[in-house]
Amino acid sequence: MKNKRILLIIGGGIAAYKCLDLIRRLRERGAIVRVVMTGAAQQFITPLSVSALTNERVFTELFDLNDEREIGHIRLSREADAILVAPATADIIAKMAGGHANDLATSVLLASDKPPLIAPAMNPRMWLNPATQRNVARLKADGVRFVGPDQGEMAERGEAGPGRMSETPDLIAALSAMLGMGHSGPDASGPLSGKHVVITSGPTHEPIDPVRYIANRSSGKQGHAIAAAAQRAGARVTLISGPVTIPDPAGVDTWHIETASEMKAAVAGALPADIAVFCAAVADWRVDNENGQKIKKAKGAPPPALSLVANPDILKTVASLKSGRPRLVVGFAAETEKVLEHAQAKLKSKGCDLIVANDVSSATGVMGGDRNCVHLVTRDGVTSWPEMGKDEVAQKLVEELARLIETGVANQPSAAKSKSKAKARAGRGDAAKNARKKKVRK
Ligand code: CTP
Repeated sequence: MKNKRILLIIGGGIAAYKCLDLIRRLRERGAIVRVVMTGAAQQFITPLSVSALTNERVFTELFDLNDEREIGHIRLSREADAILVAPATADIIAKMAGGHANDLATSVLLASDKPPLIAPAMNPRMWLNPATQRNVARLKADGVRFVGPDQGEMAERGEAGPGRMSETPDLIAALSAMLGMGHSGPDASGPLSGKHVVITSGPTHEPIDPVRYIANRSSGKQGHAIAAAAQRAGARVTLISGPVTIPDPAGVDTWHIETASEMKAAVAGALPADIAVFCAAVADWRVDNENGQKIKKAKGAPPPALSLVANPDILKTVASLKSGRPRLVVGFAAETEKVLEHAQAKLKSKGCDLIVANDVSSATGVMGGDRNCVHLVTRDGVTSWPEMGKDEVAQKLVEELARLIETGVANQPSAAKSKSKAKARAGRGDAAKNARKKKVRK
């Protein structure tokens, strides 16, 4: 960050207070921070505190003759190595998507010659609103990068979901990635260069009451590894992750969601994409009668009956889109028996182009483990890969996706050597018939 000029545009949200810490941490790393504050931002923190921390004047007005003489909005944006909008409200995102320039912040953004980094922060309903998701998709298609929002409690009491502004270390990591430091950015000569890849990963949590939920054993390791490999291959990657304990892949735009419904909305917001990979272990059901309060044990009363309803099938929805369907739609089949048979049935029923099938019975240790043994199932046949690390599976799969999108998905995946071996290996999965696929965690 040393001597990097960061232009921070602070929007009007309660998360603006986090910018004070962000400025300190950026300056500790040697960055030169200039700040533009919107009118609403000044309702949350004062230009005086910001100016004290940046040791620079704070820019607030579009038509301030003095400022315009000294440093106009064009210079403000051109002199920055990176522009960060944090917190980015639904309003500022909408204005950016529409190309508005009616205050200093939006004028700077419109006059910029480099795509900014956006750190959204808003109420979850505002974030998930189709209008916001449309605006976000528009900006992403224009090459604008996003960090967050994170999942969690809102400042408003009792509100939770996606919409928290990312924490300072995540903002700095995303800025570093954008400045091409800390890790290699997308490779412009990579096989997926210029492609947008959307990936779902991890489990979903379906709440029973405020403290209990339905979940599954997915760790997100395979999906996250695919996201990292696609990014290395030059793609712009949007990773939509359920609750996992592993870190976001560096440089990958990662959205955090909790439930299947939120994942579906996030995927819709992330499209259009060239390739969509559905690696998440989405809970098939959610609780119909989710309790607003923690369910209490009543003396002598029977355990509560949970009534379940089906969750939306995200893979099937995207694979059957009449317009805007990604060119390559990839599903995963996590099976505990008859792996190939089920995978072939899923290829048909979901309408996708490729199913990556794996045996997740407990004897294999795939769920939560670091290794995987997969079979690639297309309409043309089956290709089985030997057992390998999840990173290696990800790397090979991304190479395969690059080949398929280049040559058309009707082709047989490469290295299609052993159909019979594949059948034999898949049969071994029948052993663990009793493996639990879903569980209720307290
Ligand atoms: N999937 C999805 N949305 C769902 C359920 C599954 O997008 N509501 C996707 C998964 O991400 C995966 C594929 O569909 O790519 C297969 O998921 P899986 O759970 O193995 O299959 P199901 O359709 O749920 O069938 P079953 O549970 O009966 O095996």
